Amino acid sequence: MAGLGRKEKGQSLRGSRIAIAIVIGVLLGCVFAFLYPHGFFSSDSTASSHRIAKSNLQIDSPPCESAERIKMLKSDIVSLSEKNAELKKQVRELSEQLRLAEQGQDHAQKQVLVLGKQQKAGPPGTVKGLRTNPTVVPDPSVNPRLAKILEDVAVGRELIVALANSNVQSMLEVWFTNIKRVGIPNYLVVALDDHIVEFCKSNNVPVYKRDPDKGIDSVARTGGNHAVSGLKFRILREFLQLGYSVLLSDIDIVYLQNPFDYLYRDSDVESMTDGHNNMTAYGYNDVFDEPAMGWARYAHTMRIWVYNSGFFYIRPTIPSIELLDRVADRLSQQRNSWDQAVFNEEFFFPSHPGYDGLHAAKRTMDFYLFMNSKVLFKTVRKDARLKKLKPVIVHVNYHPDKLPRMKAVVEFYVNGKHDALEPFPEGSDW
Ligand SMILES: *[C@@H]1O[C@H](CO)[C@@H](O)[C@H](O)[C@H]1NC(C)=O
Repeated sequence: MAGLGRKEKGQSLRGSRIAIAIVIGVLLGCVFAFLYPHGFFSSDSTASSHRIAKSNLQIDSPPCESAERIKMLKSDIVSLSEKNAELKKQVRELSEQLRLAEQGQDHAQKQVLVLGKQQKAGPPGTVKGLRTNPTVVPDPSVNPRLAKILEDVAVGRELIVALANSNVQSMLEVWFTNIKRVGIPNYLVVALDDHIVEFCKSNNVPVYKRDPDKGIDSVARTGGNHAVSGLKFRILREFLQLGYSVLLSDIDIVYLQNPFDYLYRDSDVESMTDGHNNMTAYGYNDVFDEPAMGWARYAHTMRIWVYNSGFFYIRPTIPSIELLDRVADRLSQQRNSWDQAVFNEEFFFPSHPGYDGLHAAKRTMDFYLFMNSKVLFKTVRKDARLKKLKPVIVHVNYHPDKLPRMKAVVEFYVNGKHDALEPFPEGSDW
């Protein structure tokens, strides 16, 4: 800024010198007008000096002075406009720096909060971005009663959580029977009505029911599938705030091994996929062809089948909680939206003008270990080699006849009934 002040001062000094010179020029101009009626200068190299020369010296005034004086004037004007351009450039650069500083400030501060200190990049092949975000400080005051339950139920600060109301009682029975058979101790049913509370208690299943004054419980009792899905994200938030990692589970899932033995725990969200092979499950380059574009007819697109919002492991981090909030907010605003679509959109869409995307780390689960019912009924049951693999879970998400298919999965994988899966069609008959 000090440099700028000096230059301004210099400019005004030169300015007054030029003003005096111009007055003299005007007085003597008439003589030149007589001698050179078509103008004194032929042309100028810079646009700005040309403009000034024209208006002050060439047309208006008929000055009469030595050619040397005019030359001096002219070079003064040229050097002045050069200075002016330089000044303008400096102002431009300064305001650009200011803009960048303002833009970067917020982000940089947040980064310092997360990372603690700046670090140098190591040699190629040794650098790795942060995907395992730090967990939040547990806050038992959020829900002391739930905090107490989780102290008893969770193992290593993680547990399976499922929401259930009376509509799904028979599936719930298959669900916890297999969890018990596998020997998983850390699971909890969030009962959405009193009947399920009693049903769980009478079966020795850990159960939790929210306080009725929480307001959203009426949704739980009367709501359809999708309304309950929205509630799910609000309830999950408390588990995370209490500092627990949750393996969120739908009820239409058969447990065949302990999933906690197969998690990576390196991401905010580790989810099973609706994909059915390597490409659809893990992502691929889908080339879109538009022949009218000729040379550029091929547009490359990134595709991945959605994450299954009915089975995912979520760590108690800030991005995870932000995800739950974003999904819950949108589901409460857009009543007809499908929670799984919203979950994926919030999770994957990048920031763009007018929108700040989520910055969460993601991992897709192995689709043979965490198997959806499309993979089982379309591929695995027909493949002698794949049939021998034992999944960790099977999720009957692709079929409406859930209970019979769940039972068939148990027959096939647990009781060794080799043809148990055969009676079912690949897809549903509607
Ligand atoms: C799918 O990916 C796995 C692991 O990368 C690989 O072993 C397997 O051969 C792939 N399968 C197909 C059909 O490409």
